Amino acid sequence: MCVEPDRHRAALLRRAARERFRDAAVLRCGAEAIPVPDGSADAVLSTLALCSVRDQHRALLEVRRVLRPGGVLRLLEHVAAPRGTWTRLAQHVVAPCSVLLDHGCHPARDTEAALLGAGFVPVELERFRLPGALGTWVDHVAGEAEVA
Ligand SMILES: C[S@@+](CC[C@H](N)C(=O)[O-])C[C@H]1O[C@@H](n2cnc3c(N)ncnc32)[C@H](O)[C@@H]1O
Repeated sequence: MCVEPDRHRAALLRRAARERFRDAAVLRCGAEAIPVPDGSADAVLSTLALCSVRDQHRALLEVRRVLRPGGVLRLLEHVAAPRGTWTRLAQHVVAPCSVLLDHGCHPARDTEAALLGAGFVPVELERFRLPGALGTWVDHVAGEAEVA
């Protein structure tokens, strides 16, 4: 089962699910309110979505709710540059435009801190940089966060 609130992207996801994932259901809703019972999922996958959810803390609490004890959130996300850097400042400056024009994408989210704040333990992430727009480098994290 997948969640995607945007109508156009949900249609693309439905097609991809039909072609590649044995027709997984695609629900048009946000990750902040996932219509499945508590503890009903073994795993949740998020790729470049925790940057875009409207309320990251609520979305992570919701992911925790749907995962069973021992369940795991696997993720790949772009995240804020280190504190005190010009890049981080620039990310905050462009954030309002980015949120407005790029499907809610906020370039300066501290997703590792948010995972810990939502109660995931342990959180095991690898941090690395990938090329971004205009010759920039963008910090990413990839890994797992567990529900104890
Ligand atoms: C950068 S795109 C990534 C799309 C895809 N996950 C991928 O890896 O290619 C971010 C996606 O998050 C979706 N999104 C925005 N708000 C969301 C929310 N509240 N819950 C779940 N997804 C959301 C956007 O519609 C958009 O499709």
